[in-house]
Parts: sequence; structure tokens; C-alpha cells
Amino acid sequence: MKHPFSSYRKLFPILEHTAQLSSCSQSALSLPVRQAVDDYLESWLRRGADWGYWMELVGLARAEFAKLIGAVADDVAVVGSVSDAASGIASALRFDGDAGARRRIVTTTLDFPSLCHVWLAQRPRSADVHLVQAQPGASDGAARIAAAIDAQTALVSVSQACYYDGQTIDIAATGRAARAQGAIQFVDAYQSAGAVGIDVRAQAVDILSAGAQKYLLGIPGIAFLYVRRELAQQMIPTVTGWFGRVNPFAFDPAGLDFADGAARFNTGTPPMMCAAVARASIALLNEIGVPAIEDYLQQLSAVALEEADRLGLEVVSPRDPRAKGPNTAIRVPDAAQLEGRMFDAGYVVSARNDVIRIAPHFYNTADEVVGALRALARLTQ
Ligand SMILES: Cc1ncc(COP(=O)(O)O)c(C=O)c1O
Repeated sequence: MKHPFSSYRKLFPILEHTAQLSSCSQSALSLPVRQAVDDYLESWLRRGADWGYWMELVGLARAEFAKLIGAVADDVAVVGSVSDAASGIASALRFDGDAGARRRIVTTTLDFPSLCHVWLAQRPRSADVHLVQAQPGASDGAARIAAAIDAQTALVSVSQACYYDGQTIDIAATGRAARAQGAIQFVDAYQSAGAVGIDVRAQAVDILSAGAQKYLLGIPGIAFLYVRRELAQQMIPTVTGWFGRVNPFAFDPAGLDFADGAARFNTGTPPMMCAAVARASIALLNEIGVPAIEDYLQQLSAVALEEADRLGLEVVSPRDPRAKGPNTAIRVPDAAQLEGRMFDAGYVVSARNDVIRIAPHFYNTADEVVGALRALARLTQ
């Protein structure tokens, strides 16, 4: 199988000796990202406190992320993690008083636990959290979620690609179902951004968040939060900080106002060095284009599923490459220990619960995916 992005492999030095297939956890370090860190450190070393440049980097990272999801930079906030993003949103929801008619939050058992925890933490504030029982390997997730949305639903929280088995949810379908009931859709795109197409307008997304560490080719410590403008204008977060103000540099202790749009969800000083990384890494993805990446990754999924079947491995992911993200999850005994043995065999893969996740990105080849599955079969025999 031809590798359409082979010219980019030299940007990822680890690939010279190790097949990194762990983008569901941490993608490979690229030379542009390393350069961005070096540049940041250099500015710190030379200029001491280069605030103007560092804040510019935050703006550029927002712009790259906005481009990736079909939004504009003004509709994107910069926070520390996806959990923080969800907490900020939750803090702006009201489940009692006049808004009491809408107490329901719909999410699923295959959403990342941290998100479920944020929603469950709203129970003392009268939220009624409904966990849809999701099935590993299923391809009808969107319909199950849509069926749970009713006229009492305030928010639907959907993971576009599941951290465990890679199954994808048709967020346009869940978004339409949410709007039909007057509910808000929150999309956790941490396992999809950079690998699966996102167009917030076309897919009826109200709110979306993703961190930089996985398919965005960056590091932890930064997450982006898109909020549809008209919605953001109506939301008053109670988790806040000086960067959520109209003018963060007004230094008025008694003046609590809220910036226009998503910026009201900013809190403290933004993660500037992480923003430098994210700017460089997302720019690389925008240069290549997510549609071409998604298409190639679906081909790698087909290769992975076929090879896993041939080797008799137990696949937990959906059987249809179009119903999953890049991650192919294989059920194994003692996944955590196997992750270490796979590294010794030359493959960086990622253990979660009872599975090993093989999660390639555009820089990986079909041979690397096949090689990892063969090593896995060898080590579990
Ligand atoms: C789908 C998904 N959402 C959220 C998270 C957690 O994100 P954060 O640590 O930025 O809160 C993860 C981490 O693996 C994830 O896979």
C-alpha cells in the first residue's frame, strides 16, 4: 500500500528506529514542534519576559485550531485540559430555578470518565445525569444517544471517537437530535481532532473541546474550547479568572465582566509554551489537510482489522473502518505489561484496561501497523 505522506516521515525522528503507534495517547515528536519549544526557550533566555510574543503564540494556536474545525479564532478559548473545559461549561449551566425544566445531561458509558465525572459533579446542583449504556465495537452509538434526548435535556455530551475502542459517533446526527429538543451538544474531540473531519457549523456542534497531546501532535497542558457565538453570549461561567474579562489588564478587583464569545471561558494565564507547541503541530495538520489524513487512516484501519483477523486476535473496535477512528483495540491479557514488551520489540502502543490500542497517525505505514499486530500475536501466544 502506497504511503501518501512518506515525505513527512523525516520530520519525526523516532520513526528511524521505533514505530510509534500511540496517537490515542501521545503522538510522535516532530522537528517543527521541537523547534517551537527551542524558540520559546530562546525568547525566555534572551528577553527574560517576552509577554507580547508569548501571547501572540496563544492567538496563533487558537487560529490554527479554529481552522481545523471550521471556526474562527474568536470563538475558541484556551484552557488547561478538556476536563477544565467541561467544568467551565458546567459552571455556566443552571439546573434549578427558572431553568429547572431542563435538568438532564445525557452522556454515555464509553465517554472518557473524566467528562462523566464533571457532569456527575453537577448532581448536587440538581442536574439529572443520564448515562447511555454504550456497547464496545458498536456502530449505532448516535441513535442510542439521540433516543435518550428529551425536552428536559439541557446538554448532550458526546465523544466523537471513543478512547477505548475508537468507535466514532455521527455528531451531526446527535447535534440535530439535540437541537430538535432545544438542548446543547458538547463534543469531546480529544480522540478525533487531527484525524477525523470536524466542521462545527455543518455538524451542528454547539461546544467542542480537544487537547493537543493526541492526534494534534502536541503535548498536554493545553486544550481548546469552541463555543458557538450566540450561545457563548448567553452563558455566564462561575469558573473564571482574569483572562475571561473584557480587558484582563484592567486590574479592577470589583469589576466582574465577561469577554465576548468563547473568551469568557478563559481563566488564568494561558499555557504559553504549550500554545507554541500546538501552533506548530496543528499548522502541520492544516498544511496536509484532515480529509486526506482521515482517508489514509481509514485505509490503515482496514489493514489493521484484516491482519488482526488473520492472526486470530480479538478485536474490540468496530468492524467497519468508517465506524471508527484510527485506534484499533485488541483485547489481551495483562495489557499494561504487554505495552512494555511491545516497546522492547520496537513498537510504542498504548494499554487501556484490557486492551492494547494500535493508533497510527498519517506518518505511519501499513507495514508498521502489520508489524505491531504480528508482534502482539507473538507476545500473547
Ligand atoms: C476522549 C478523551 N477525553 C478527555 C480526556 C482527558 O482529557 P484531559 O486530561 O485534557 O482532561 C482523554 C484523555 O485520554 C480522552 O481520551
